[in-house]
Amino acid sequence: MRYLFLFGRNTKLSCAEIFAYLRRKNIKKEGFILKRNALLIELNKEINPEQTINETGGTIAIGKTLFEGDLGNILEKIKREEIYKNEKIKFKYTLFNFSDEESHDKILRIIKEKFKKEGLKALYNPPKGTIKLQNKKIIYGTPSKIITNDTSYFLFKDKKYYFGIIESVSNQKEIEKRDMKKPVRREALAISPRLAKILINLSEVKEKQTLLDPFCGIGVILQEALIQKINVIGIDIDEKAVRNAEKNINWLKKEYKKIGKYKLIKGNSSKIKIEKFNCIATEPSLGILLKKPVNKKQAQEIVKKFENLIINVLNNLKKSLGKDGKISFTAPLIKTNENKRIGCDINKICSKTKLKILKNEIKFPIREFREEQIVGREFYVLFNPQ
Ligand SMILES: C[S@@+](CC[C@H](N)C(=O)[O-])C[C@H]1O[C@@H](n2cnc3c(N)ncnc32)[C@H](O)[C@@H]1O
Repeated sequence: MRYLFLFGRNTKLSCAEIFAYLRRKNIKKEGFILKRNALLIELNKEINPEQTINETGGTIAIGKTLFEGDLGNILEKIKREEIYKNEKIKFKYTLFNFSDEESHDKILRIIKEKFKKEGLKALYNPPKGTIKLQNKKIIYGTPSKIITNDTSYFLFKDKKYYFGIIESVSNQKEIEKRDMKKPVRREALAISPRLAKILINLSEVKEKQTLLDPFCGIGVILQEALIQKINVIGIDIDEKAVRNAEKNINWLKKEYKKIGKYKLIKGNSSKIKIEKFNCIATEPSLGILLKKPVNKKQAQEIVKKFENLIINVLNNLKKSLGKDGKISFTAPLIKTNENKRIGCDINKICSKTKLKILKNEIKFPIREFREEQIVGREFYVLFNPQ
């Protein structure tokens, strides 16, 4: 089975997330190619695109390959086989191009002729919009959020050509509902549902396991995990945050009926004694809220404070972390007035906690920030080698 994952602006983060998600679901990848913001990947099992897109944060659309081969093969197959299965005669369609212009134009011409012959009133709607990637590259012809409701095809070229159809797009409305309609919001501190899902996937939590968020705040990570029926434990030092997390989860229970089990605790994660759990996904306090870039020394102080906090918390919690359990977390990335970005010393964190950085196809840290953002994030995944 070959699929196309279309990513938002942070391809590295989204790619790491998908690889971790596949490990979560015990799906093996048998080869992959990443081109611009598109990942073409061969899997040993079928996936449910709808479920996959709901359970991941960085993917905006998932497609399935229909035909592969040289351009001649693809053109022939498009002419002969069914590529439009809906009942509506009048519709719009799009073709996302991860190939060369010439091949794209040939394919498009054949599709147009085919639809005409079949008596369909199909209107070609070229892909619109641009994405500015985390690495500053600009990609034209892909919207950054939702892909239209049109029937969307893709053409991808590597050693051969792949032609396929988009099967599911990210449900922006549903994500916004969870974000905006929950009873308590805390804009300045809370993480977005999108990043929460990425952290959950990076933790590689499996079915029926328990995930811990030791800095749970109003519970965004907990909520995103609960609707995937993952059991969660949330700890926060701030009593009000814990109460608000409870209010948010009660709301979630009504909205989503079946959710995982949860436990909320007011406590200090550096000291608390806690039952066994399987993994951690968390956004710790990233430091004071900054409105302007700071000097190098101030940035180093903020980062050092973070290092001390995370070292204490991890040393305390790792005693209850199950075997092979992973710890995914974000760390501050502070913009200085010399336009540099300062992150934490992960080697120090690892040496003081005896934890190790997970090594996979994609190296950590993975940075996530916008140009104008003063406090950005670095994503890490650690594990206990003992
Ligand atoms: C960045 S916020 C977490 C945001 C959270 N993901 C949310 O959705 O609201 C960090 C949280 O860590 C809590 N905190 C700070 N130090 C702590 C500690 N030692 N133990 C437990 N919680 C702590 C703060 O009260 C704050 O709510």
